[in-house]
Amino acid sequence: MQSTEANRFSLNYRNGLPQDLLQLCAKYPRESWDKHPNLGERVQFWLSRHDMFREMIVMLEDCCQKLSNNLIDAEEFSQWFIPRLSFLLNHLDLHHKVEEFHLFPIFAAAETKLIDGFSILETDHQSIHLFADNLKTELQALFELKNKPRDEVKRAGENSTMKFATLSKGLVSHLNDEEDLIVPIVLYHSEESLGLI
Ligand SMILES: [Fe+2]
Ligand SMILES: [Fe+2]
Repeated sequence: MQSTEANRFSLNYRNGLPQDLLQLCAKYPRESWDKHPNLGERVQFWLSRHDMFREMIVMLEDCCQKLSNNLIDAEEFSQWFIPRLSFLLNHLDLHHKVEEFHLFPIFAAAETKLIDGFSILETDHQSIHLFADNLKTELQALFELKNKPRDEVKRAGENSTMKFATLSKGLVSHLNDEEDLIVPIVLYHSEESLGLI
């Protein structure tokens, strides 16, 4: 995929994957996944990781909401938010490495007409890590503002929650699109024939 094409489908601009990458998904719609006999242990484990990321996002969003509503102060926010964000980002980093080095090449080889989808997903990973770096910069600024004027701390807190919103929105879109591309491939081919077992 040309880089300009990839940009067109970047997390910042797209709303779902392009239709030509969703033909297999149309045959295996999301509502049918649970009951399908080819939904094996590997893909179920992978989906459970995605669910864990979604749950972490909800918890972290809730903490941002509390800061925005002045239910907690910036210090309480940092103490609760930063270790949980680190947990999320560390697990995400590992998850992305497994996808890029192990899983994506298997799926792309099995369905070569969907290969552009994997370029899109890899670009998403880069965007997500960039969003995370931007958030870490804001959190560092918030941390350094301890004991500084309230207005400055409030503004830094708002910047952090805004950067987290960008990260969480991008991550949730990525998880959904990734599942729409990958689960139908597994259901069509089976984990066994893909060599996932
Ligand atoms: Fe991914
Ligand atoms: Fe993933």
